[in-house]
Amino acid sequence: MPLEELKPKVTTILQNKEQSITDRLYEICKLLKDNVNYYDWVGFYFKNEDKEELKLRTYAGAATDHEIIPFGKGICGQVAISNENFVVPDVKAQDNYIACSINVKSEIVVPLFKNGENIGQIDIDSDTVDPFTEKDERFLEFVNQEVAKVI
Ligand code: SME
Repeated sequence: MPLEELKPKVTTILQNKEQSITDRLYEICKLLKDNVNYYDWVGFYFKNEDKEELKLRTYAGAATDHEIIPFGKGICGQVAISNENFVVPDVKAQDNYIACSINVKSEIVVPLFKNGENIGQIDIDSDTVDPFTEKDERFLEFVNQEVAKVI
């Protein structure tokens, strides 16, 4: 499904006050994983209380051992510090990378800002080499902006 068509669905999910925030975030993970063929794992990490680490809140895809990631470690931990999108076309080319599955070929991590503060991120793994474009970056920035409105 084209990314533009997913936008209103994301907004609808987030507006459903019958569900907890974590359940709504899970629905978004599932929506994205099921409707974008190169999104194979989709998850949200958030800063873990006052610790310098990220904690996995919810995800769709294979289980991961990396529920806690220290700031600075891996692609996710680097984004917690840089406040910038990180697109990895080929994970083999990265030194500071935490492998979750041998099938993963590429990754995109987009920080989530609330009141200007980097409080978390959306992380997507792909089994395809170099699938992500600026369209994915803009779309995931939209998703995070929508999440920030309700979180
Ligand atoms: N690959 C990530 C770790 C998280 S998993 O992709 C679920 C990283 O290098 O930070």
